[in-house]
Amino acid sequence: LLSTLAATLVAYLIGSLSFAVIVSRTMGLADPRSYGSGNPGATNVLRSGSKKAAILTLLLDALKGVVPVLLAQWLAPRFGWGEGTLGLVGLAAFLGHLWPVFFRFQGGKGVATAVGVLLALVPVTGLACTGLWLAVAYFTRYSSLASILAAVAAPVIQLLAFGVSTMVGAIAVMSALLVWRHAANIRKLLAGTESKIGQKAAAAA
Ligand code: G3P
Repeated sequence: LLSTLAATLVAYLIGSLSFAVIVSRTMGLADPRSYGSGNPGATNVLRSGSKKAAILTLLLDALKGVVPVLLAQWLAPRFGWGEGTLGLVGLAAFLGHLWPVFFRFQGGKGVATAVGVLLALVPVTGLACTGLWLAVAYFTRYSSLASILAAVAAPVIQLLAFGVSTMVGAIAVMSALLVWRHAANIRKLLAGTESKIGQKAAAAA
């Protein structure tokens, strides 16, 4: 139990590295919490006009989902961890992104980190969701819509492909939180005022 708690804590701390803020600061760009949607995420960093910063944010935010899960999978035999611990570690990294201890608990919506967690934890479901995200984003140009649909699909795909398991539960919790974090996006999508991918931010949030 102690080793599971320690792994969960480490994953949460890694998840708490808000790369949208860190990358923007390092590159001398404005804080993403001050423009566009105000969200510290790759989509909003793109609104600064810097593709490079957005791609870096996306990769690093995804990596912080991948790394804790891979580490936990590697250490699992030594500590006797099962699916439950692995799911918990993935969830903790995701929760760190949403409520980062290093950034006064003001984090993002969790899309890139969730993708990283899924790819490492359940690669088939992760790849299917990434494909779905890319397809919806390509055809609609709405990053948020792609994220919401992929999140809803994730536990369903996992369930249909592999049956009932602890993983389905962990994924469902992650998806529910992710959709909830998109409440403002859902309102804007319904009102027809959501901004499309690549549209630059004019006003502050
Ligand atoms: O990555 C989050 C995305 O789904 C929406 O971001 O900035 O448009 O609220 P944003």
